[in-house]
Amino acid sequence: MLYIIGLGLYDEDDISIKGMKTLKRCDRIFAEFYTAKLKDQKLSTIREKTGKDVKILAREEIEEDMTPLKYAQGEDVALLVPGDPLVATTHSNLILEARKKNIKTRIIHSSSIFSAAPGLAGLQIYKFGKTTTIPFPEKNYFPHSPYLTIKDNLEYNAHTLILLDIKAEENRYMSANEGLEYLLRVEKERKENIIDLNTLAVVLARVGSSDPLIRADLIKRLIVEDFGRPLHCLIIPSTLHFLEAEYLIEIGGAPPDILK
Ligand SMILES: C[S@@+](CC[C@H](N)C(=O)[O-])C[C@H]1O[C@@H](n2cnc3c(N)ncnc32)[C@H](O)[C@@H]1O
Repeated sequence: MLYIIGLGLYDEDDISIKGMKTLKRCDRIFAEFYTAKLKDQKLSTIREKTGKDVKILAREEIEEDMTPLKYAQGEDVALLVPGDPLVATTHSNLILEARKKNIKTRIIHSSSIFSAAPGLAGLQIYKFGKTTTIPFPEKNYFPHSPYLTIKDNLEYNAHTLILLDIKAEENRYMSANEGLEYLLRVEKERKENIIDLNTLAVVLARVGSSDPLIRADLIKRLIVEDFGRPLHCLIIPSTLHFLEAEYLIEIGGAPPDILK
């Protein structure tokens, strides 16, 4: 049996009681931190409370080698995944492979940035369009797709949740500032007047912690601020309902004239 268990948003205390009970029954525990990260990835409490070791797997060990499936035929195996385990990850592939091998699977959900970020920013989740991820640019790799997603969403009057790239093996987590610079660079190349220094954006950092950061302001002010430790994500809002605007002013420090 393979259990895919969500670790939630910030630290190992975010795992559900159901998740912990399941871990105690499992013969073997794996974890991955390439789709997102926790504050501390040693998982000392989980190791202590289950009395079991937790082996951290790299992307290739899951996506290519399917390591958890090698053991799940004869044992109860858990794979711990940050956030909600099937949201913005490729772990559904593991489930399909498990089915081919007649291995039973079960998902234990947890909190996700997909619902936490809109909620914390006071924005209606019903008013969001497609989510996008900004990748780390490389020499011959600078896709405009995140900008085009924002453009499409704005056409439908929808807000955009923007996730930021992770290169876990290099310990690199894109900051909100890097994400905003990326979007301004695309604007400079495309000149479609979608985003500029006077566009309103929302930065969220360390969601799930006891003191998450929620900052709403014009990009020209956000881009020079220091938002602290990762993880960060962004929202580019569309037209705001007055309650959404009031929330961003009150909680995120947005300029009061966004209410107009
Ligand atoms: C590929 S998504 C993984 C989503 C995860 N499965 C979930 O359900 O929350 C990872 C990206 O989401 C954003 N993210 C995830 N957790 C976050 C947090 N606690 N605070 C801020 N941003 C977060 C970051 O931009 C990060 O690079």
